[in-house]
Amino acid sequence: MRLILLGPPGAGKGTQARFICQTCGIPQVSTGDMLRSARAEGTPLGRMAESIMARGELVSDEIVVGLVKERLAQPDCEAGFLFDGFPRTIPQAEAVLEAGIEIDRVIEIQVDDDEVVRRITGRRVHEQSGRVYHVLFNPPRVPDRDNETGEPLTQREDDREETVRDRLEVYRRQTQPLIRFYTELSRRAPLEYRAVNGVGDVDAVMQDVLKALGD
Ligand code: AP5
Ligand code: MG
Repeated sequence: MRLILLGPPGAGKGTQARFICQTCGIPQVSTGDMLRSARAEGTPLGRMAESIMARGELVSDEIVVGLVKERLAQPDCEAGFLFDGFPRTIPQAEAVLEAGIEIDRVIEIQVDDDEVVRRITGRRVHEQSGRVYHVLFNPPRVPDRDNETGEPLTQREDDREETVRDRLEVYRRQTQPLIRFYTELSRRAPLEYRAVNGVGDVDAVMQDVLKALGD
């Protein structure tokens, strides 16, 4: 399975990606997580991306495409992968096509703006692993602690309400056109496009996502 998860910030891509990857035995390729690791390690790329991410803008296509190509060259991607948060612009999607990277299915998770803001402002993350929680909707077993390591959870720097609104605007301008791009591509390529209602509790959405993977 070679999958793309598409949807606005806070739609639940990262949350659903965990289940899909466990079920299908494929790695999660999250460009957001990769950029956050680079930032945490203080690499030149991480330092460059830091302020762009804090503003909720997009890192350059060239850099992100380079990162993904490097990641796909690793052996665990041979049997498939799940792109989470990539591609995010038409040029990125075109780069995937040009590189001959085949995609079997695109799953769009649909969530409205108010729900996005509710989800993102209550999100807590375990930076090292990328595990995601929500203070109300998906709380950790011990408040503010990661379920697996017990380490403290943090709030992402770009999760303030003003930045979330900017990220939604960036999504509409730069990423939403991919819905049409992949719907059209699905008419002439083996690729299949499925949209899933992302509003509902995590398990209900997971059931719909699994259905969209199976049918
Ligand atoms: P990225 O990390 O990809 O952020 P994003 O797309 O804004 O998406 P999020 O991670 O915010 O949301 P999500 O859909 O994963 O939701 P989650 O599962 O966490 O990118 C960050 C930045 O990196 C970008 O702004 C950009 O600067 C840069 N970048 C990354 N990729 C790039 C690219 N390709 N090109 C250029 N720049 C790039 O869920 C959200 C919350 O809701 C959580 O608290 C969760 O617990 C909760 N939740 C999940 N599901 C449910 C549910 N069903 N009901 C209630 N709550 C739920
Ligand atoms: Mg995410």
